[in-house]
Amino acid sequence: MYKIAVIPGDGTGPEVIREGLKVLEVISQKYKFQYETKVFDFGGERFLKTGKTLEASDIDELNKYSAIYLGAIGHPGVKPGILETGVLLKLRFSLDQYINLRPVKLYNPEFCPLKDKKPEDIDFVVVRENSEGLYKGMGEFKDKASLDEVAIQISYNTRKGVERCIRYAFEYTRKRNKRKKLTLCGKTNVLTYAWDLWERTFNEVAKEYSDITTDYAHVDATCMWFVKNPEWFDVIVTDNMFGDIITDLGAMIQGGMGIAAGGNINPQGVSMFEPIGGSAPKYTGKNVINPLAAICAMGMLLENLGEVKAGKAVEGAVIKIVNTKLKSLAAGKMGYSTTEVGDLVVENL
Ligand code: IPM
Ligand code: MN
Repeated sequence: MYKIAVIPGDGTGPEVIREGLKVLEVISQKYKFQYETKVFDFGGERFLKTGKTLEASDIDELNKYSAIYLGAIGHPGVKPGILETGVLLKLRFSLDQYINLRPVKLYNPEFCPLKDKKPEDIDFVVVRENSEGLYKGMGEFKDKASLDEVAIQISYNTRKGVERCIRYAFEYTRKRNKRKKLTLCGKTNVLTYAWDLWERTFNEVAKEYSDITTDYAHVDATCMWFVKNPEWFDVIVTDNMFGDIITDLGAMIQGGMGIAAGGNINPQGVSMFEPIGGSAPKYTGKNVINPLAAICAMGMLLENLGEVKAGKAVEGAVIKIVNTKLKSLAAGKMGYSTTEVGDLVVENL
C-alpha cells in the first residue's frame, strides 16, 4: 500500500493535480497496486489565512509517506520569496531531496521551436544538485540602503554534497543505458572555487565509471548547444542555480512548460514529483492549463515507487495523445480543456 502525500498548492496546481490523480486511479487498477492519498493544503492561501508556511511537525508527517505529489507553489498575493523558501525549498531541503531530476524529451517535433529537430535529437536528462549552491540562502547586506551598500550571496558547495550528486548522475547515466555520456555543466573559467571542487570531484568519480564517456561544457555554452545541437547530450550534471536556469530552456525545446516534469529525489528517503512550470495564476480556474506536465510527474513518481511498467505506460499514453490529438501544448490552445486532456490520457492507458 503506497501512501502518497498530495500538495495541490497554488494557482493552477489543484487543476493539474486532479488530472494526475485521475490517471493514478486508472493505472493502479490496471497494474494492480494499492495506494491511499492524503491532501495537504500548504501554499499561498493557507499562508494568507494563518501566516504559516511549513513547520517541523509537517516535515515529520510527510516523512511517513512513500512519495509526495506537488502541484505548484506561488501566489500573486504573497511577496516573492516567502512561499518559495518557506514551502518549496523547505520541502526539498528538510527532506534532503538532493537531486532534482529533469528529463528533457521531445514527444512531437511539431511542438519544438527548433527547426528540423526530431524526438531522437532531444532526449536528455538534467541532474540538478538540489540542496546547496546559491540556494543555500547564505549571505548578507553591508550598509543596507546606503550608497555604499554591498549584497553578498554565497554559493555553498560541500565535497560530500557535490560528490553524492555526481555519483547519482554517473549511476543514472549507466542505468539509463542510452549514449552513456555524462556532461558536467559548470563555469570553471570564472567561478574558480566552486567549479574547481566540482570538476575535481567529477574527474575522480569518473575513474570508477570507465563505461561512461565524460564531457564538460560551460553553462553559457550549454545554453548554446541546447539550441544548436541538443542531440549531443545524454545526461547533464550541474549545480542548483545553473540547473534551474538550463531546465527552463530545456522545457522550451521539449515543447514548453505544459509538458516539463521533474522529481526532487532523496534516494534513501521521501521524494517529491512536480510539474516544473509553476502556478500560472492567470489561468487559475479556467480549465485551460495543460495537465500533461503533472501527469508526466505522476509517471516519474510511479517509476520511483518501483511501479516501472505503470510509469512507462503513463508516459506512453502521453506520447500517444501529444502526437495524435493535441493542437498545441500551451494553455488555452490545446484544442481540449484541462479535464479533457486528462480524460484522453486515461482513454489511452
Ligand atoms: C523550480 C523553480 C523554483 C526553483 C522556485 C519556484 C523556487 O523555479 O523548481 O525550478 O528556483 O528551484
Ligand atoms: Mn526554475
